Amino acid sequence: MKRITIFLLSLFAAEQISAQALIPTPRHAAFEAGHFLLTSDCPIIAASDEAQTVADYLDDLLPLRRSAFLGLGEALILDIDPTLPQEGYRLEVGEQRITLSGGTRDGLFYGVQTLLQLLPAEVYSRRLSLPCEVACCRVEDSPAYAYRGSHLDVARTWMPLERVKQHIDRMAFHKLNTLHLHLTDDEGWRMEILSHPRLAQVGGFRGGDSPIEPVYGRWDEKYGGYFTQQELRELVEYARLRSVEIIPEIDLPGHSRAFARVYPEILCDYQPSLDRSAGYDVRNAFCASREENFSILEDILREVCAIFPSKYIHIGGDEVEMSQWRRCPRCQQLMRERGWEEPAQLQEYFMSRLIKILKSNGKEPVVWNEAINGGTLEKSALVQGWESVKACRKATSEGYQTVVMPGQYFYFDMRQSAHEEGHVWAAIFDAEKVYNFDLTKLGFTPEEQRRVAGFEGTFFSEAYIGHNPESDSYLDFMLWPRTAALAEICWHRGPKDWPAFRRALTGLHGERMDAMSIGHRLFPPVVTYSQGELSARADQEGQQLFYTVEPDSVEHPYTGPIRTTEPQRYRFRARREEARSPWVAHASYYATIRPAVHFTSSLPESEKAPFNRIDSYKGAAWTTRTHRAGDWLRFDFAEPLSCREIHLQTGYLHLPRCTFRHAKVEVSRDGSTFEPAGELTAGAITLRPEFPIRAIRITATSTGNGEERVIIQSLKIKV
Ligand code: ACM
Ligand code: ZN
Repeated sequence: MKRITIFLLSLFAAEQISAQALIPTPRHAAFEAGHFLLTSDCPIIAASDEAQTVADYLDDLLPLRRSAFLGLGEALILDIDPTLPQEGYRLEVGEQRITLSGGTRDGLFYGVQTLLQLLPAEVYSRRLSLPCEVACCRVEDSPAYAYRGSHLDVARTWMPLERVKQHIDRMAFHKLNTLHLHLTDDEGWRMEILSHPRLAQVGGFRGGDSPIEPVYGRWDEKYGGYFTQQELRELVEYARLRSVEIIPEIDLPGHSRAFARVYPEILCDYQPSLDRSAGYDVRNAFCASREENFSILEDILREVCAIFPSKYIHIGGDEVEMSQWRRCPRCQQLMRERGWEEPAQLQEYFMSRLIKILKSNGKEPVVWNEAINGGTLEKSALVQGWESVKACRKATSEGYQTVVMPGQYFYFDMRQSAHEEGHVWAAIFDAEKVYNFDLTKLGFTPEEQRRVAGFEGTFFSEAYIGHNPESDSYLDFMLWPRTAALAEICWHRGPKDWPAFRRALTGLHGERMDAMSIGHRLFPPVVTYSQGELSARADQEGQQLFYTVEPDSVEHPYTGPIRTTEPQRYRFRARREEARSPWVAHASYYATIRPAVHFTSSLPESEKAPFNRIDSYKGAAWTTRTHRAGDWLRFDFAEPLSCREIHLQTGYLHLPRCTFRHAKVEVSRDGSTFEPAGELTAGAITLRPEFPIRAIRITATSTGNGEERVIIQSLKIKV
């Protein structure tokens, strides 16, 4: 009988929690009848100085009058109770009092986050109107994992301070506690370094007159930025007050092209062949045998350690292009002297030297998983397993504390369904796959699981390619709600119920994300075409549906089924506040064709990638020199081509120097006379011909970037 009562009670509690949609799910929450009436006269009482800093945070979000407590009446009491788990808290909402105790300041802060979720969502937009009711309850909670991380790559695409602060706020609302700030990469160096000021002043910008090539994102103009040390100190404090620790990453010894463009002497000692690299000097790793490199890095890491109070500093270790060390006589000599056969051993030597520097500054290292491949790396390193589940298991089984973040589950720069924006190299996945991540199902033994420090959601920012890099909404769309699902698995280890979690995400928690101004991704609408009618159904009530009809891109409100014989011209999306779904279309929208085409050019063709690769749709062809004004490219179709859309791309989005830079585009109905059709932008154009065409001609109006070739890709043609 007692068992049945407990069962029913816990069922009731579970029902109540799901009704409140608390994310992440608390360890234990029981709701009771009744409520606390929160009025603007409610005093917040902090029982210690530490608790006061949390009270100040809460007070900032609530429209309270800062009333004095006279011993009677309603009150909100915050204190620290060291008998609770470190990051744990106990929240009791009674009709007279809300009492919130945290094991530490962090625990108290997380309790405040749960309390905020018991209030109307407007609390997040600072539009809460009081009085409001808070359901009586008792919540006892603490996180499943100590490391609950979110990674932002401000190196590939520069993100200003305010954007990073906004992200920290949203992490805090979800009880995430570690911001991994990827400060350096091939495309930019984002931290002011006083001992080497040119690193950021020059290396923080690419394109234009910068020595760093205009890869990714921005094209002809100079683009970038960096944080001053003062700004970084401010950011650290901002994060600390939100129980978020920042772990900075200086990605070494690879991913250092930006560094090498400012200080080329750090590179290995050989002349790179530009022939196989589309004209780019691909050397981007520190020479591992150049002793001066370690003194430069000692100076730099000392500054990094002084700015960031975190126990850990991330020193990279991923994707080192070892061929550089194999071709460098100095590195080869060092390997012979030490008896090393594998370049992975050289990398381990390099990392170990850096670890010594960190330790002398009182810090421990974080490294990407490749850094342990030499077999002897210091076990105090925290390893980030990104390449695969297998790489994570290898690290845990070798005794490393490991942050589990394999790309196919945790890289939030991956697209979320087949036809959306984003990368695909790791996987295509949405929040459901993150939520269902399960160490046991993936074969982690109990011992391996004990070494899992936690999880981290990653946002590498090169997928801003072709987007407006300054667009907040793209970042939001990629991160949310996947980051909410990440927070759930970091905090809560209980049984999984995706339908219930999905209801929370689209329901109350969706409203919270709206109020946080997160332009998050709504689940896509369903589009059907039957008997000449095209229909769309939103995932949920409260969303508005819109559609476009190509060639127009204007969004029209959708009010009901559309009669059409051309379903391939329509796309649909849902919107709610700043949230939006991806575009969804009938399958016919995506169909492509490969009509017979012949490619010619005034430029000479490369033997390695001849022009017939374009005729046969086999990828990209190269020329053997850059273009000059007047040079032309020409596509002649065997038959007049009627189609919706032709996408023509020169160069690659990440290698803009191999594009046709400035060029006019013309089309021909008869193959001999041409009419204007536009200009290339970022080396590309999307044509929507309104009549059958026999040919496309591209004529350069400027000289190229001085690279050794132009790259031309096969056309992509939609029916
Ligand atoms: C990585 O994605 N290269 C860590
Ligand atoms: Zn070398």
